[in-house]
Amino acid sequence: MVNKITVVGAGNVGATAAQRIAEKELARHVVMVDVAEGVPQGKGLDQYQSAPIEGFDSLVIGSNGYEESAGSDIVVITAGIPRKPGMSRDDLVNTNAGIMKAVCEQIKATSPNAIVIVVSNPLDVMCYVAKQVTGFPRERVIGMAGVLDTARYCAFLAMAMDVSVKDIRAMVLGGHGDTMVPLVSYTSVSGIPVTQLLDKPTLDAIVQRTRDGGAEIVKYLKTGSAYYAPSAGAVQMVEAIVNDQKRILPCAAWLTGEYGLSGLYLGVPCKLGRNGLEKVIEVELSADERAALEKSAQAVREPMAALTI
Ligand code: NAI
Ligand code: 2OP
Repeated sequence: MVNKITVVGAGNVGATAAQRIAEKELARHVVMVDVAEGVPQGKGLDQYQSAPIEGFDSLVIGSNGYEESAGSDIVVITAGIPRKPGMSRDDLVNTNAGIMKAVCEQIKATSPNAIVIVVSNPLDVMCYVAKQVTGFPRERVIGMAGVLDTARYCAFLAMAMDVSVKDIRAMVLGGHGDTMVPLVSYTSVSGIPVTQLLDKPTLDAIVQRTRDGGAEIVKYLKTGSAYYAPSAGAVQMVEAIVNDQKRILPCAAWLTGEYGLSGLYLGVPCKLGRNGLEKVIEVELSADERAALEKSAQAVREPMAALTI
């Protein structure tokens, strides 16, 4: 347990993440910050009132300012607008960049030693804004998307094979968008390569459904996007850091030459521990996978170039 974790944005993803963090007792104090008057306070109190039932000792509070969040060990940023049917994640870029800048200026001033986990979309570009505005090193500004995309991929595989999700090992790299790169060559079920268990057309369909995974939920919900799996993804990263687990998870990291790429955030295998991003792991990729990763990097660079921060 660390002393304090702040979640900025007390909407669907943020509030669910705060509740998960509290239930896992990852911090003594869990602070939710949101601009919506009364909302973080109400949700914080409501969550804390579940503590006697659920039996956790994290104190959850909400605020419209950053005083209560000062000195946070970890800050999870979910502030921003989610997409609606017909919108791509990139359609959110200008609105959410402004929000991200305002939030990160406050974090820099009040929690200068925090490890920041970015969730807001478009994810890879928002990570870049967060890094630029806070000036924190790459070890302390990491993005959550690969964990979610990988979870979706594993869920679809488990459904197709009628096996436990626990036995599936997989990794989705690249940007959090239509060009994400599920690595079929690194997908296995209890060590058995997935290509021995599913035929190519089935695997191709699962890869495509994974790429469309966010849009599939938006289409059902109509007024917002997914939040149960996204909040679980963010909290898996928080847990790896708080408990110094040294987990290898696909996260958006600032690249400095890894995979032949630099000067952008992209989903790659990362070792997470108490220092945040402790290592970017470089794995061998086939020519097709490498080409797909480069295409995905290009798809991140385009909205990055359009940014004015
Ligand atoms: P939501 O609309 O439920 O919540 C967003 C919250 O941000 C609202 O409560 C709003 O008042 C707050 N907010 C807006 N401006 C703020 C500011 N300046 N300071 C503090 N709070 C502010 O949206 P939801 O569903 O929680 O999604 C949040 C973000 O996360 C969206 O950008 C969404 O696209 C993204 N997302 C990213 C995922 C990923 O894998 N990286 C997965 C799911 C969502
Ligand atoms: C998702 O993939 C919208 O990025 C969000 O569900």
